[in-house]
Amino acid sequence: MNKVKFRKIWYGLSAKQRFLIRRLYFLPVDIFDSISGGRHKYVPPKGLIYTGYPANSEKFIQQGKLQLQTLIDNIDLRPNDALLDIGSGIGRTAIALTSFLNSQGSYDGFDVVKLGVDWCNSRLARDFSNFKFKYVPLYNDLYNSSKQKAENFVFPYKAESFDKIFSFSLFTHMQIEEIQNYFKEISRVLKKDGLAFSTFFLYDENDEKQIIDNGEYSFRVNKNGYKLMSDEVKAGNVAINKLKLRKMLEAENLGIVKIVDGFWKSGNKSNEFQDIVVFKRID
Ligand SMILES: C[S@@+](CC[C@H](N)C(=O)[O-])C[C@H]1O[C@@H](n2cnc3c(N)ncnc32)[C@H](O)[C@@H]1O
Repeated sequence: MNKVKFRKIWYGLSAKQRFLIRRLYFLPVDIFDSISGGRHKYVPPKGLIYTGYPANSEKFIQQGKLQLQTLIDNIDLRPNDALLDIGSGIGRTAIALTSFLNSQGSYDGFDVVKLGVDWCNSRLARDFSNFKFKYVPLYNDLYNSSKQKAENFVFPYKAESFDKIFSFSLFTHMQIEEIQNYFKEISRVLKKDGLAFSTFFLYDENDEKQIIDNGEYSFRVNKNGYKLMSDEVKAGNVAINKLKLRKMLEAENLGIVKIVDGFWKSGNKSNEFQDIVVFKRID
């Protein structure tokens, strides 16, 4: 079965069904790893890694280190920064940050999947008092069937709390109204001279046609200024027109510092899969 067909079936299942199947599928290898001690103490069992294809311990740590390096390169991350990680998942980036931030620095992360937040709190927050993870029960048709909507969500932090705010592969899984609200909230909780970093699937008039038929990452459902991979699971994957993104940011007093095109669109030469956008407050 090819990956496109697999994803259609996979996304057709409920979040609970997907968690259960993954847990059972990886149970033998997870039991083996527990007995043999082959897993780093901060890396979750494969069956709990609900984002992407579950990596082994070494790869999971390596992926986090690469994310950290990407943040250092793009938003000049400093060991004493106050950081916010939106969609903190199951701790991939946070693990790498535990050996980067010093005691003046701090890490806050939140996510709509309780399993991930619970794992991070029970392992990372337990060992590092400047790391905090919050579960926020918001609806996302890929991850959480709650009734509360992300488009009205107020981040649980005071204004101008963070030097740097980042999200990996979050805005590729949210609806356009929700993303708009998250930009508003980022603008509120980011310090005046702070920097934000997020990854997206972006397109413009040059590659709009190409992404309609782009293998595993084809966006065929056309909306006003953005495209969906599937109309059934709207958070499955979202691609946004670059001009629309600029306008959405500007509406919340945010401006683009730079865009680094990723290699999800065939032909692009980059180290990153998704497109990186660095942005800041423009007041
Ligand atoms: C592809 S995963 C990436 C996780 C993590 N950033 C990483 O790189 O490993 C997307 C994450 O966004 C979270 N998410 C989805 N909608 C969200 C929302 N409205 N607010 C916060 N997190 C959300 C999902 O639960 C999931 O953990």
